[in-house]
Amino acid sequence: MDKPTQKLMFSSKTDEWETPQEMFDKLNQRYKFTLDPCATAHSAKCPKYYTKEDNGLSKSWANQSVFINPPYSNIKEWVAKAHQEATQNGATVVMLIPSRTDTKYWHEYIMEGADKIYFVKGRLKFGNGNQIKKNAAPFPSAIIVFGEQNLIGYTSGPKIYSMDRSHGRL
Ligand SMILES: C[S@@+](CC[C@H](N)C(=O)[O-])C[C@H]1O[C@@H](n2cnc3c(N)ncnc32)[C@H](O)[C@@H]1O
Repeated sequence: MDKPTQKLMFSSKTDEWETPQEMFDKLNQRYKFTLDPCATAHSAKCPKYYTKEDNGLSKSWANQSVFINPPYSNIKEWVAKAHQEATQNGATVVMLIPSRTDTKYWHEYIMEGADKIYFVKGRLKFGNGNQIKKNAAPFPSAIIVFGEQNLIGYTSGPKIYSMDRSHGRL
């Protein structure tokens, strides 16, 4: 990999931070995912998936168990969509996102509407197979769960947990 590509891959500007398989497998044991709405044919985590060309944001996720590691260029729209599909369409949505707790969307959608936040201990190494990145990500990560308990309109805020990189309490 040349230097400019390397620089891009380790900044949060790239949209291709592939979920570590171990972490996905652990979450999948519990949530039995049926849809990955932001993927490529190569990186899809579920047999049912949408690519950039399909535009997963424009599709219904009704009643699906959804896993999302969104493109980092527009996380806010994916968080808003996850919140909407969970509160209005019966979806359960689990998101792997950078832990950017100062953003407006974090407070508006996650603190107000998520069921759970798992803060990941340490930094993830994204990628799979021979594409695993040598260095850990330059940002902390969190797993956000919407719609697990179907608690529409509740106001107590999400439950917060600590999660090991490969096997946290779920
Ligand atoms: C961070 S990667 C995650 C890939 C894979 N789902 C995973 O978990 O490893 C985000 C993916 O979303 C794709 N993407 C970007 N915009 C999209 C859109 N509007 N609809 C569906 N996929 C999109 C990107 O091409 C990229 O492959």
